[in-house]
Amino acid sequence: MSEILKVNNLKKYFIKKGMFGAKSVTVKATDDVSFAIKQGEVFVLAGESGSGKSTIAKIILKSIKLDSGKIFFEGHEIDDQKENLARIRMNCQMIHQDPYDSINPRMKIKDIVSEPLEIHNIGNKEDRIKRVIEVLQEVKLEPAEDILKRYPHMLSGGQRQRVVLARALALKPKVILADEPVSMLDVSIRAEMLELMQELQKKYNISFVYITHDLATARYFGQRIGILYKGKIVEMGPIDQVLVKPRHPYTQALIDAISEPDPDNLHKERKIRIKEPVKTEIEQGCKFRARCPYAIDKCIEEPELKIINNEHYSACFVKIN
Ligand SMILES: Nc1ncnc2c1ncn2[C@@H]1O[C@H](COP(=O)(O)OP(=O)(O)O)[C@@H](O)[C@H]1O
Ligand SMILES: [Mg+2]
Repeated sequence: MSEILKVNNLKKYFIKKGMFGAKSVTVKATDDVSFAIKQGEVFVLAGESGSGKSTIAKIILKSIKLDSGKIFFEGHEIDDQKENLARIRMNCQMIHQDPYDSINPRMKIKDIVSEPLEIHNIGNKEDRIKRVIEVLQEVKLEPAEDILKRYPHMLSGGQRQRVVLARALALKPKVILADEPVSMLDVSIRAEMLELMQELQKKYNISFVYITHDLATARYFGQRIGILYKGKIVEMGPIDQVLVKPRHPYTQALIDAISEPDPDNLHKERKIRIKEPVKTEIEQGCKFRARCPYAIDKCIEEPELKIINNEHYSACFVKIN
């Protein structure tokens, strides 16, 4: 499998203005993130809310500017030149958590799904309608000829997310960035949507960056995983290795949080509480050390992501496993 998307040392810091006279703080939303995805691979980015998952997706699609770092698509560096922006936006599509983030409620399904084709000037009107019908059938929204005349509010939440998937597929993308695509759906229809994404991923050999806080769906859909903590990848590797034999204390904590007997907890977003979270941001060294039960003096230094074995990396000085 050849490498399709590679990001090197991505950085994006936000300055958050302090309210009521408080000092401004720098949020290191993406702090030196590197990973590569092969063609046809499903790579999971997992982490708690606020760990920086969505920021990475936005950086890749160039909807926000990065502070530093490089993005490569099929070996070409994607800088801000027009042809590179077109290259990435033609080949990489995004699915948002909330369908209304990507669909206009005042547009008919036909226009929503054909919009990317129009933006990129693909085919004539007839060709585009043909493609819209084709992709609506692919996502099992049938009868497609009837669905395309409807407005989003006339569909169920699950159907709307299928429209978003159809829109993402319209341009036959090589990569789909799916940002928590099932987390707003009812539990009963989540599995259906995941199965559909998996079926289409396999059929067209699409690479996915599957963004989630939910390790259960991650394991179902993904092949490799990167665990994010405060803007940094702290562990990365083949999904079974990482989830069965986690090497980073934060990954262990994430897994412990879901291995409770209550099956309803499997999909819940949780705040890890090994130790009380600290109020002040840790500026240097391992960001997890204030909450880590294994922390040692050395953790005031920055741990690098180091290979353990077989593509499995961890950024921790302590051998815990
Ligand atoms: N436009 C922005 N301005 C200021 N802070 C932001 C902005 N976007 C994201 N952040 C901050 O960056 C961090 C990462 O956010 P995000 O990437 O949305 O995380 P996730 O998707 O994992 O929940 C959070 O602390 C968030 O508050
Ligand atoms: Mg997010």
